[in-house]
Amino acid sequence: MCGIVGYLGEKKASDVILSGLKKLEYRGYDSCGITFFDEGNHRFVTYKDKGRVNHLVEDFDYSFFNRLGIGHTRWATHGRPNQINSHPHFSETTRFSVVHNGVIENYKELTVKYLADVHFVSETDTEVIADLIERFSQEMSVEEAIRKTLSLIEGSYALLILDTENPSVMYAAKNKSPLLIGTALEGITLASDIMALVGYATQYLPIEDKVFTVVCRQPDGSVGFRMHDILGHRIEMPLQKLDLALDEIGMGGYSHYMLKEICEQPAVVRKIVARYFEGDDFVVSPKIHQVLKKAEKIYIIAAGTSMHAGFVGRYLLENIAKKPAEVFIASEFAYNPPLLCANPAFLFISQSGETADLRTCLVKIKEMGYPSVTITNVPTSTLAREADHFMEICAGPEIAVASTKAYVGQVVILAILAHCLADRKVFDLKEELSKVAVAMEALIDKREYIHALVREKITKRNCFYIGRGLDFFTCLEAALKLKEISYIQTEGFAAAELKHGTIALIEDGVPVIAIISQKNVNNLTRANIREVLSRGANKIVISLNRLSDPSDELVLMDVHEMLSPMLTVIPTQLIAFYSALDLGRDIDKPRNLAKSVTVE
Ligand code: G6P
Repeated sequence: MCGIVGYLGEKKASDVILSGLKKLEYRGYDSCGITFFDEGNHRFVTYKDKGRVNHLVEDFDYSFFNRLGIGHTRWATHGRPNQINSHPHFSETTRFSVVHNGVIENYKELTVKYLADVHFVSETDTEVIADLIERFSQEMSVEEAIRKTLSLIEGSYALLILDTENPSVMYAAKNKSPLLIGTALEGITLASDIMALVGYATQYLPIEDKVFTVVCRQPDGSVGFRMHDILGHRIEMPLQKLDLALDEIGMGGYSHYMLKEICEQPAVVRKIVARYFEGDDFVVSPKIHQVLKKAEKIYIIAAGTSMHAGFVGRYLLENIAKKPAEVFIASEFAYNPPLLCANPAFLFISQSGETADLRTCLVKIKEMGYPSVTITNVPTSTLAREADHFMEICAGPEIAVASTKAYVGQVVILAILAHCLADRKVFDLKEELSKVAVAMEALIDKREYIHALVREKITKRNCFYIGRGLDFFTCLEAALKLKEISYIQTEGFAAAELKHGTIALIEDGVPVIAIISQKNVNNLTRANIREVLSRGANKIVISLNRLSDPSDELVLMDVHEMLSPMLTVIPTQLIAFYSALDLGRDIDKPRNLAKSVTVE
């Protein structure tokens, strides 16, 4: 959840770290901090505070010559977001400085056993790591002390460690939480996300669990690194080329990443078509096809927005491929699994590829010997690397915390998978996807009209989305989007279900947004709209042209019924965006959230 960046090389470390933290701020933004080595005055300088990276950049002095440092942007797990709980944290004598992403589950036990006499400054679990290293380093080398600490701590961590007695070394280790090392001629960067390496590394390597990395400046001034297992044995891992460009992660003239990413969706559909079709044939790995085809049932595991894509995926797998499928909330599946069928396959859907709840499930699935496929937007991610197979969403970097184009990309990939598993051609997917992209463009061009609708209709502190069938799944996603960035309490309902209790909340002016793209339930949903209208609701009806009524507020171009979720979700993303904009919310970084949730 937190972002971490460290640098050792020839460049100004504080510049590399602060620019990396800005790119990682979407991972957590309660507070942030940095420690760097001021070479002129031969001292380590630490700045940390509650608040955003801009505060760290603008309100502190970085004029010192510095080429080594570590930084952190925090999503609080232990202790409130405040200056003291911000990272970096120090050991008791301040010799060791640590930034940490993850949760140390046994930090209390370790405190009692090894650190009973230590006075802790913060409420965090991280401080224990710094103190353990210091304690052990009194009897052994620093490297041994860190490895001993790693052998004792349980939980998830990506760690960067500085020893103030040795300003030519930076240590790193990880378990469960992501950490990558990036290399360039000028120096080495470590970060929890590939994004922070862009512009500073030409090659990179995702570090494996329980690997301990030492980055050091050699006597000739060059910087190198070595990796060890927990016992100290050397490990060699090949570096890969980093080919993500800086302009791919810029704002591209838009006011917000979210709006940029909404507008990119037609291009995402076309990019996925280009990637997964050759002529009219699917380019899906034969192994993935074999694994899913053979399975008696496909278990879809996901969280948040990706789970909503999973619901659509289940529908498509069952209706197009005739393959039984079921969707599970990852965090529930991990500790309360259902009775599995004899021959299952597992589909993990995750925009980031790092969600800890999913990873816990994946580890258990692998132990049981079942096959797994990950659908993710980040091919370097943990879930992509650890599943048997993966499919890339190809949506390009998604920076806004609220997922838009990655969601649509997931649904497109699931439609491709469903078609590829079908015994007969149900419809011309390639052709229909190109119609979807055109309809998306027409809709995005009308976005100012949606803004006007928002101003007129979304005027309360609560809101409802209603729909049936595939539209119900879109309602779930639409409601999540609106509440997460505007903080308007919103619920997505199966249209008929509202009257079984929740209709009690409908009163004058409450917005109820209906989605209608499914012919077989058009009239039924319209009856449900009348029910809320007669209780004073303020309606917005979003319908496909062929099912529309003259009184509908937003009529979309016709697309294939089974692909409609790719289109109907877009007005709901825009409704969320403009509602949040008018309320003055921090759209790209909504409160309390993080894009990549690496703790359970
Ligand atoms: C977080 C994000 C959501 C996302 C969910 C699952 O909660 O804020 O936008 O849907 O994690 O993330 P994943 O990366 O696994 O799709």
